[in-house]
Amino acid sequence: MVSTSEIKEFLKKNLSHDRYVHTLNLRKLAVKLAKHHGLGLEDIYRVELAALLHDCHKKLEQGNNHSFLAAEFTKKNFGITDRKILSAIEHHTYGHRNMSKLSKIIYLADISEPSRKFKEAKHIRKLAFADIDKAMVLALSVKMRYVLYEKKPLSLESVISYNKILKKNDARV
Ligand SMILES: [Fe+2]
Ligand SMILES: [Fe+2]
Repeated sequence: MVSTSEIKEFLKKNLSHDRYVHTLNLRKLAVKLAKHHGLGLEDIYRVELAALLHDCHKKLEQGNNHSFLAAEFTKKNFGITDRKILSAIEHHTYGHRNMSKLSKIIYLADISEPSRKFKEAKHIRKLAFADIDKAMVLALSVKMRYVLYEKKPLSLESVISYNKILKKNDARV
């Protein structure tokens, strides 16, 4: 399997500087969260790979499908077929009705890594350590509010994830 240093080399060449920094910040935070929440060694390695590859598609714009393109690209170009890794990459933009803990960690680290400057980022980051589902409810609501404010189409998958996590855990923040 491809090594993390090979992936990093690829990313450095193919991503903008800002996106590369975002990716490394995300990786650091996601691995911390994975350890904090007791994921096993194999899953911590999956978190690391998903973190590095979540925005890897080289024609990456802020386009809505980039998470699916990144998963496709990961499969084709890095030979990674592990479903947990590919799902975590796919779920990082809209969320998903059936997110694993691993996917939630990538979603939360993506939205709240330290280079994110919107006002709720720090709160989401802190909450992600205390309660993953509460952090997910806050993160999804912040993202959907932003999408509505920008008058962009809202992903039904985000609404379903939000409702599901909220209902299951009474995870109101
Ligand atoms: Fe992304
Ligand atoms: Fe990202």
